[in-house]
Amino acid sequence: MTPIVETRGLTKSYGPFQALEALNLTIEPGVVFGFIGPNGAGKTTSMRILATLLEPTAGEAWVGGYSVTRESRGVRQVLGYMPDNFGVYDNMKVWEYLDFFASAYGLPRSRRLGLIDDLLALVDLSEKRDGYVEALSRGMKQRLCLARTLVHDPQLLILDEPASGLDPRARVELRALLRQLGALGKTVIVSSHILTEMADICDHVGIIERGRLLASGPIEELLRQVQTSRSVLVRLIADARLGDEAVAERVRTIPGVLGVEIEPLAATLRGAPAVVAMEGTRARALSQIIPGEAGAPPHLQPVPSALPPEIAGGSATDQRLAAAASAAPARLVRIDFDGDDYRLYQLLGELLTRGLPVYGFTEEVGDLEDAFMRITRGMVA
Ligand SMILES: Nc1ncnc2c1ncn2[C@@H]1O[C@H](COP(=O)(O)OP(=O)(O)O)[C@@H](O)[C@H]1O
Ligand SMILES: [Mg+2]
Repeated sequence: MTPIVETRGLTKSYGPFQALEALNLTIEPGVVFGFIGPNGAGKTTSMRILATLLEPTAGEAWVGGYSVTRESRGVRQVLGYMPDNFGVYDNMKVWEYLDFFASAYGLPRSRRLGLIDDLLALVDLSEKRDGYVEALSRGMKQRLCLARTLVHDPQLLILDEPASGLDPRARVELRALLRQLGALGKTVIVSSHILTEMADICDHVGIIERGRLLASGPIEELLRQVQTSRSVLVRLIADARLGDEAVAERVRTIPGVLGVEIEPLAATLRGAPAVVAMEGTRARALSQIIPGEAGAPPHLQPVPSALPPEIAGGSATDQRLAAAASAAPARLVRIDFDGDDYRLYQLLGELLTRGLPVYGFTEEVGDLEDAFMRITRGMVA
C-alpha cells in the first residue's frame, strides 16, 4: 500500500537549534495515528511542514504522493489541517464560517449549502447553524474547526492537539468524532502530549522527543516491544507468622521470577469475609487434591484470619491466631515474571504450595504511558 505520509530525513533548524532531526516516518492510509511527545518535542513543527506551512531545512516529505516542498497545491488538496491555536472570527455565524472556507476551496455555491448542513450534523452542531461563532463553547469551536478542515473532503486530517483545553465531556465527544472519521476511511494524525488520551483513539502511534522519532507503529506491537517481562500482582491476606523477608524468599526461588517487591495494603483491604470463609474448608479440600510430601504440607494448615474472632469463628486456636494476624498488614506482592500463560498458572500453584495465603492474583498489563516511559527512559538523562 502506498503510504499517505512519508518523511525521509526531515530536519528543521531554527538557527543553531534543531527542532527536528532526520525524521523518518511512514503512515499507512486509513489509520488514526497518534503523534505523541512532550511539549517542545517537534510535533507542531512536523505537522506544519506536512501542511506546507513551514519549509524543512533538509530532507523531504510526501503527502498522498505529493512532495511538500515542490507540489504544495497537490498536498493541500489531500489534507485538512487544524492548528493548535485557531482564530475566532467575530460577527460571523457558524454556517457563514464554513461557507467562507468552502468557497476558499473553490466549491460552487450550489454544493456548499448541502455540504455545510452535512458537516454540522457530523460534528453535532446543527442546532448552532445560525448562531455566532464567538458564542460557542471551546469544545464546540473545536468541532467547528474540525468541520472546517473537512470542507474539501480531504483524505488526511492533521489535527494539532485537538483535545487540549477541553473539559472531560468535550474530550469524550471529540474522541467519538475522531473514531467516526477513522471509520469513514480518513487517515487522521492527531498530536498530544497526554498519552492516556490517545490510547483508545489511535491504532498507530509515533513517539517523538527532542525532534527525534523514538518509536512508531501499531500500538499493540509497540507495547509488545517494550514489554520484556510480565508484572504480576499477588495479594496476601494478613499473616503475622510470615515476615516480608520470608515471603520474598519463598517467591524469589520460583522458576521464572525475576524480582519481588512487597508492600503493605491499606487496613481496609484486609481479609474480606468471603476470603476468610473459604480458608478452612478450601484448604482442607485442597489437601485431598494436591498430593503433598509426607504429612500435611505447610499450606494446608489453617490460615489465620485477619477478621475479629466473632466474625471469623473457628476454634480457640484459630481465634488466637486471628488476633495475632490482625496485627499484621495484608500485603501486595509485585512479581516481575518471565513466562507464558502456562508458566503463570504454575506460578500461582507454586505460591499456594509454598504456603502463601493468596487471595488475589492478577497480571498488570502495561499501558501506553508505561511504554512511553520505557521508550523515553535514557533520553532524558
Ligand atoms: N519559530 C521558532 N523559532 C525558534 N524555535 C522554535 C520555533 N518554533 C518552534 N521552536 C522550537 O522548536 C521546538 C519544537 O517545537 P514544536 O514543534 O512546537 O513542539 P511541540 O509541538 O511538540 O510542542 C521547541 O523547542 C520550540 O521552542
Ligand atoms: Mg505543539
